[in-house]
Amino acid sequence: MNKVTVVGSINLDTNLRVKRMVKPGETIHAKEHYSAGGGKGANQAVAAARAGAQTTFIGAVGNDAPGKQMLELLENEGIDLTGIATLANESTGQAFITVDDEGENAITIYAGANFGFGPAEIEAKSDLITGSDFVIAQFETPIPATTKAFEIAQAAGVKTILNPAPGEDQISADLLKVTDMITPNETEAETITGIRVVDEASAKQAADRLHEMGVAVVIITIGAKGAFYDYDGTSELVPAFKVKAVDTTAAGDTFIGAMSSVLKPDFTNLKDAILFGNKASSMTVQRYGAQPSIPYKKEIQL
Ligand code: RIB
Ligand code: NA
Repeated sequence: MNKVTVVGSINLDTNLRVKRMVKPGETIHAKEHYSAGGGKGANQAVAAARAGAQTTFIGAVGNDAPGKQMLELLENEGIDLTGIATLANESTGQAFITVDDEGENAITIYAGANFGFGPAEIEAKSDLITGSDFVIAQFETPIPATTKAFEIAQAAGVKTILNPAPGEDQISADLLKVTDMITPNETEAETITGIRVVDEASAKQAADRLHEMGVAVVIITIGAKGAFYDYDGTSELVPAFKVKAVDTTAAGDTFIGAMSSVLKPDFTNLKDAILFGNKASSMTVQRYGAQPSIPYKKEIQL
């Protein structure tokens, strides 16, 4: 069983289902409203735990009702919460998500407590990092904290996985130097490398650029087409499972969490792990909400 530690965000998601997206200056009615556990970090941890990994979380919530609610959800997944701080002067992160009839989403997040920690807090929790097989982080928590976590991980031989989402204008070169695996989608890959990813050939170019930046294992997710990987001289597009998507929220998070639960730390089963992640995310897109839509190991049969 892999040990996976996620350094990341926890959000209370407020979800609205609409016929079509609202335009600036317009008011429209939603046909459904519900809340759910979310945050890219928490979703990835839930995906890893449900797929069978022993999972630990490092992050922060506010001292408020949403924070308590989100921690309870993670506790019910069997995730180790000793690395989560409850911050007195911050509110728990929140996301406001609109999903249209095409299954497309638009998300606005308020980071709150997710931005309330830095390298010192990570250093204090280094035991939770050095004891794992993988450390995963995203861009919904401070980059100096992630960089510190990855430095601690690499010094202990723990493999690091960066999900560069949501896209940042400027990628930190220091962070890439301590990143073993990166998993951008095509837009994020373009933001980081300047190369527009439209097919396998351009994905390969972007992957080569990322290797030059210091990352050994590159996986570029290309929506419904699948996931392109490039590692150790081998590259391939692993096709996505064809399903009807109703809500793509947390699809990328599920892919990373599920994949990390079966991936060997020496990456020798990379393609199989990607297939497993693809299968898991194909289930997530067929259900509404972030955490409620993430599948369990027994559902992800290949
Ligand atoms: O990746 C999906 C997640 O992004 C949502 O759960 C929302 O909280 C935002 O962080
Ligand atoms: Na979903």
